[in-house]
Amino acid sequence: MSINHFKVVVKGQAYSASSPDNINYMNDALFCIDQNGYISDIYMPQHSKYSEIMGIAHAKGYLHELHSGQYILPGFIDLHIHAPQWPNLGKALDRPLEQWLQQYTFPLEARYKDLDYAQKIYHHLVKTLLTHGTTTAVYFATVHREPSLELGKICLELGQRALIGKVAMDDVDNCPSYYRDCSAEHGISETRRFIRELLELPGNEKGRVLPVITPRFIPCCSDELLSGLGELAQETGCHIQTHCSESDWEHNYVIERYGVTDCQALYNHGLMTHKTILAHCNHINDGDISLIKSVSAGIAHCPLSNFYFANSVFPLRQSLNKNLNIGLGSDISAGHSPSVFEACRHAITASKALNDGVNSQLPPELRGCPESSVSFREAFWLATGGGGKVLDLPIGQLREGYLFDAMVIDTTGDESDINIRDDDTTDDILQKLIYTTHRNNICEVWVNGDKVS
Ligand code: GUN
Ligand code: FE
Repeated sequence: MSINHFKVVVKGQAYSASSPDNINYMNDALFCIDQNGYISDIYMPQHSKYSEIMGIAHAKGYLHELHSGQYILPGFIDLHIHAPQWPNLGKALDRPLEQWLQQYTFPLEARYKDLDYAQKIYHHLVKTLLTHGTTTAVYFATVHREPSLELGKICLELGQRALIGKVAMDDVDNCPSYYRDCSAEHGISETRRFIRELLELPGNEKGRVLPVITPRFIPCCSDELLSGLGELAQETGCHIQTHCSESDWEHNYVIERYGVTDCQALYNHGLMTHKTILAHCNHINDGDISLIKSVSAGIAHCPLSNFYFANSVFPLRQSLNKNLNIGLGSDISAGHSPSVFEACRHAITASKALNDGVNSQLPPELRGCPESSVSFREAFWLATGGGGKVLDLPIGQLREGYLFDAMVIDTTGDESDINIRDDDTTDDILQKLIYTTHRNNICEVWVNGDKVS
């Protein structure tokens, strides 16, 4: 592309991961963003055209230069978040999953048939997530089609990339009468209409907001609904999301109902594709892992909510070793933080607990699962490139051909907890960024080459 046609050229130091164990630090890089928001070129200072490109961008007024205490990271990808649960953040986490759902979560989600309420809450949530550096979110909305479309409109308005599902749930035993699709047929036809209407929203010509087929989880769905949504997935090629083998109760419910695990049951209903995002997967077995791998489905690891509702720790290290596609989710409001930085930290902490074990009354050799811990580098990958790979979208990496979705972290200023010292290596600095960045350090957020926050 001609250098006269860039939307913006961003100059600064940056980190990007191309795999769980390959992180690239770029100093004084020039990120040249084309009119469609893609990174068309990255020039490093040793390149023969570097000065010329910078000079032209400066002269034409589209050079955006960061200062020395600022770092560019790919925008974070939250692979699993329940938008309507935002008002319940930090509430009822002392209850088990089934009670939390029936007594707190379903009554709250039912309120979203009120479009004004949905509008107000969703606007506040999307704005907040952007300030935390979440440039892409994969949302569960509610069973209501129009309020779920409203979430799409708000993401378009505020500039967030999003994948959004109208939740499908029809089971008369496990869904309350006041909050469910009135039949399987209705759940399928409303999902079909939602897909079309979301893709046709004004301003969505480039597909920055995408629909997701969203059977809530097997206990809430009839066989007819599951297989109808499987057929719809085949017909439309849309992403699919659901909860999978989250807790003992949920995992055993599926085995009792079908005689097979969640993964196998979802596969039998046509719901396991390379565009499926499986939230949790804490209780998966070797057969499930093989199945996930054979279809290239993705996993949304939600370490914080798992401490409350999962009854176990997801075998993250083991799943990474098997090359599964994995990213991170906040799982609001089963998780009580909107920050994917927090998800990184909890993924590391959970893996350490799994590695060492937690019961001090057992001898060390019987306490944990050795070789289970993950590092800050792998957590960084999961929050960025890993999420992009799960979604099969060119996001999560600062790399030519990828969309410029990014955040800028400012480590300077009195309000910063990030203490960079002269003797820190570039690896040390990334570690400090992962552990000590707070919302107030995130000074710029970019989606599609546009500054949105
Ligand atoms: N299983 C079914 N629905 C939900 C939900 O909203 N949150 C969590 N964590 N698990 C679920
Ligand atoms: Fe969830």
